[in-house]
This record gives sequence, C-alpha cells and structure tokens, in this order.
Amino acid sequence: MRYRRMPIEVESPEQLGYSTITNNLSESSVADRRLSDLGLDLDLDGLVLQYGDHLGDPTLRAAVAAGGAGLDLDHVTVFPGAAAALFAVATSQLDRGDHAVVVRTNYATNLETPRTIGADLDTVDLRWEDGWQLDVDAVADLVRPGTTRLISITCPHNPTGTMLDERDLRRLVGLAERAEAVLLVDETYRDLTHTGERIPLAATLSPFVVSISSMSKAYGLPGLRVGWAVTTDPLLAETLLAAKEQMVICGSTIDEHIAGRVLADRKRVLPPIVAEVRERLAITEAWFADQHTFEWIRPSGGVVGLVRFRDEVAVDEAAFHRVLLADHGTYVGPGHWFELSDRYFRLGFGWPTEDELRAGLDALLAAAATTTTT
Ligand SMILES: Cc1ncc(COP(=O)(O)O)c(C=O)c1O
Repeated sequence: MRYRRMPIEVESPEQLGYSTITNNLSESSVADRRLSDLGLDLDLDGLVLQYGDHLGDPTLRAAVAAGGAGLDLDHVTVFPGAAAALFAVATSQLDRGDHAVVVRTNYATNLETPRTIGADLDTVDLRWEDGWQLDVDAVADLVRPGTTRLISITCPHNPTGTMLDERDLRRLVGLAERAEAVLLVDETYRDLTHTGERIPLAATLSPFVVSISSMSKAYGLPGLRVGWAVTTDPLLAETLLAAKEQMVICGSTIDEHIAGRVLADRKRVLPPIVAEVRERLAITEAWFADQHTFEWIRPSGGVVGLVRFRDEVAVDEAAFHRVLLADHGTYVGPGHWFELSDRYFRLGFGWPTEDELRAGLDALLAAAATTTTT
C-alpha cells in the first residue's frame, strides 16, 4: 500500500496550530472536553494498565450494544478511533482490483483507503440540486451483484450534514444483501441529529452491515481515540478482530475505561451537548437568512454543513481563504478537502464558542467583501 497524506489532515487546524486561529469554524466535532468537564468520579490511579480484552473494554462494548435493538457486546469491536475501524473494514474487505461503491463527498478516509488499496472504485457524487441527498438508485446502478465487495456510506454525513431516511437505509441494506457485499455505514455523528428522527443503528438491520462510530464527534473526546465497529456477522467480527490484533493487539486501557464510563452515562452527558449544538445551528441559520453571498443546505445531523458562494458571486477563491485566515483569524474547511472547488467550504458550527461562531460568520462576509464581485 502506498500511503499519501490527505489535504484535510495536512491542513487540519491541529497541524496548522490552534493558536494561529481565532475563530475556528473548520472543526467537525463539538467542543473538545476536559476530563473535569465530564462530571465523572474517575479513579484512574487504581487502574491496572494491562493488555485489555482484545475486543475492547466490556463496559464500553455493553454501552455501545445498548444503543441498538438486539445487540450484545460480542457484536462490538473497539478500535483506536472510528478512523482505525474504517481502515480495518476497508483493508479486510478489499484487495487490489476489488469493486467498491463509495459516496462522494465524504469523510476523506472513506475514499482514500480504498484508493490506497488499489480497489476498483466507483463514486456516487452527492449533488447540490438533490439537496445533497444520496440517490439510492445511483448506488443501485453501480452495484455489481457477486462482484462488488463494499458499499460505503456516511450518515449523518460529513461534510453536508444530510441524513438518509429509514426507507433509503433499508433499500441500501437490501442492495448489499442481494449483491452479497458489505454495507459500511459510517455513523460517527449518530448521536447528534436535529430532526427528532432516529433511524436504526444500521448493523441491527442485517449481518451484511457494519456500523462505525466513536467518542470523537458527539462527545467532544477525539483525544481518547476510541471508536468501534458493530456487526452481527460472527465471521466479519472475527476478521475485524484479526485486523485489530495485527495493528494494535488491544486498545488503550485508560481511553477505553473513560469512554465506557461516559457512554454508559450518555443519558446525562448527551442532552446538554445536543441542546448547545442546536442553538449554534439556529444562530448559523439566522445568519444565512440575513446575507446574499453564501448558501447552504441546512444540516439534519452532525455539526457541519457544506457552504457555497451563490452562483452570481464571482470570487477569487484562493484569496478568500487566505484573507479569511490572515486578516480575520477565521478558518473553514476548503472544498479541496472534499474533492470540490474552493467555492465550497465546510462550516463547523458546533465547536466554536457562541462568540467565536458569530465573529467567524461576520468574518466570512468581511473576507468576501474584498475578494468577490457580483
Ligand atoms: C464521518 C467521520 N468518520 C470518521 C471520523 C474519524 O473519527 P475518529 O477517528 O476521531 O473517531 C471522522 C472524523 O472527522 C468523521 O467525520
């Protein structure tokens, strides 16, 4: 495998240096938490730092399993982040030349790892005209029964924030079953939805499905490096465990212990986070309604949306992003992170404080004022 660094990682705010950004609207999670924010009485001094259960901390796995009907802890394999779980799924299901269908735009790894493997990749492009909604018929047209190995979707989606409804999810599950392919559903934003609608945890629908999620986005704990894969297919679960054992044997005892405590307490931890994210979304929506330079499609889940300059606005894209950061201390995720032009950018509304969000939104208009013509 020939690894290359992805622009989204090279140019990530943590690599740029958090101190160089005043209004950070490029993040894809809620605000990062301190241990002391979690309100847990953690006795880390007493923790034995042994090799843990290779599948992952049982308390954590039970808490994950509690999120889906009919799941138990043997259906859950913990990984160091959703990123590692995605890597294990892609590398275990695909060899060079194997056929995969992947949605684009997407979280960059979901495209990059199949490419690095040398898979025969078909992409289904989400379109503004469709409200960024996935066209399930377009996926169906690309799936080759008996040949396609992997169908890869993300819901709630990064970077658009759109969601599938249950009917479309079930259609995709049916497609995977008929093709005997694995349906990978990246559900990293599952605990952050804004419509009130909760679709089933996809892996509960069929043994052909693997669901991936983590502590990073909804809980603001990306530094824990805890994610997981859920599947009810024992063979697939065994394969994922084999992949994990070859990479890391088992996960971090400390990280998994903390994650288990947080997730088991999610009824207390999550509601204030979701309420805060929805307030930020309302602020952002009000701002969109009040200007004529940018447009987006309101996200239904997660903490990001994909923004674009309105068609009638001529912009020097490179200058816009440069001025935005250099003169206004504001950073967003430019389109090239997602294989789009930089007329598009991802806006993260859940990470900054309210003041930073408001200042960042004002900065978008200030930077546009000097780099656009209509
Ligand atoms: C959709 C999606 N999946 C997976 C990840 C990886 O998350 P982590 O490895 O921190 O759990 C991200 C991070 O941005 C993401 O947005």
